[in-house]
Amino acid sequence: MTFYECKDTIEEGDLVLAFVSRGLIKPFYVTKGEFLNTRFGNFEHDRMIGMKYGSQMAGAKDKGFVHLLQPTPELWTLSLPHRTQIVYTPDSSYIVQRLGITSGSRVIEAGTGSASFTHAFARTLGRDGRLFTYEFHEPRFLEAKKELEEHGLLQVNTLATHRDVCHDGFEIDNLPEQFSENGSINANAVFLDLPSPWTAIPHLSKVVSQTSRVGICCFSPCIEQVDKTIEALEANGWTGIEMAEIAGRRYEARKEMVKDLSDVVKRLKDIQGRKTSGIESRRLARVGDGKRNNEPQGGVKRDIREVESEDTASPEPKPRGYNPFGKGMRIREGDEQFQWKQVTKVEPEIKTHTSYLTFAYLTPQKTT
Ligand SMILES: C[S@@+](CC[C@H](N)C(=O)[O-])C[C@H]1O[C@@H](n2cnc3c(N)ncnc32)[C@H](O)[C@@H]1O
Repeated sequence: MTFYECKDTIEEGDLVLAFVSRGLIKPFYVTKGEFLNTRFGNFEHDRMIGMKYGSQMAGAKDKGFVHLLQPTPELWTLSLPHRTQIVYTPDSSYIVQRLGITSGSRVIEAGTGSASFTHAFARTLGRDGRLFTYEFHEPRFLEAKKELEEHGLLQVNTLATHRDVCHDGFEIDNLPEQFSENGSINANAVFLDLPSPWTAIPHLSKVVSQTSRVGICCFSPCIEQVDKTIEALEANGWTGIEMAEIAGRRYEARKEMVKDLSDVVKRLKDIQGRKTSGIESRRLARVGDGKRNNEPQGGVKRDIREVESEDTASPEPKPRGYNPFGKGMRIREGDEQFQWKQVTKVEPEIKTHTSYLTFAYLTPQKTT
């Protein structure tokens, strides 16, 4: 039940996500006698039982630590075993909102893939909603089904079907009663993450609601796919077609050294000083003019490493706060000997698989 409800305390058998570092969240089931092994240390499952979710746990002999988190679709997306490209939270949250999917909605999803979006849909739909997810690749379908069962999704609101929806459509024979509405799937939202959604679109009319507005989103990485999808949507009566692309950006808090005008002047003087001493040492390097001592024309050349070491060697230790980012000086961010201000920086990379999102709606025709 973890993906639908919150609980306070870790119990044996729980699926827990260990936040090891920003790039690494490890999922595991709490099993007596086992250890979670990470590069930051080893963590006994036995000690986790009874701890509060969100706790920081120290490793054996107090070496390293991890945070023990309760699974949510957002965290699962960052930790799941990838079987395919997946939909990340910046896209899934926008799609859910834009299609008006909420508790009680009936949603069709194809293909299931790594079931990243499946978890987000299932949590949003709650006990009253229904999710119909389709996958045609059998090993991937079986893995997804096992995972959805272990996570309790199949027991609550999700029906996983092994099917080629482009060829065989979405209708399900012997639809279980708890998934049927007036004997049909009766979906009011559709999400297609398929290589050729245009071949699946004509099959939708048999499984979507005939009485309420139905929204669709097709997730395609190439604009040529978007073109074909739009043609199919128009040909099948879908209207209000719009395409969007989500560009995610994450900011991180950092420290930047506070510098004033005198620091800049010192820095310029230092650069000038280095230039002058460099010229001087190069001049000295050319001892003799080659005419004396039978040396080659231009004088004796010294090993450049010797000259460079003279260039960088400082006759006196530099005072702290002087030339903070100068050649050869590395300062740890936040070093207490300097003054810092808090700033935000844009992270250069954020995990999001950007695709084009094509939205459209099917509105029931009023009969007079
Ligand atoms: C990119 S993945 C979907 C990822 C998924 N949205 C997620 O967030 O994890 C696309 C999936 O569609 C499946 N697929 C492709 N064509 C299909 C078809 N005709 N019927 C059903 N599934 C199909 C593929 O096997 C693949 O697993």
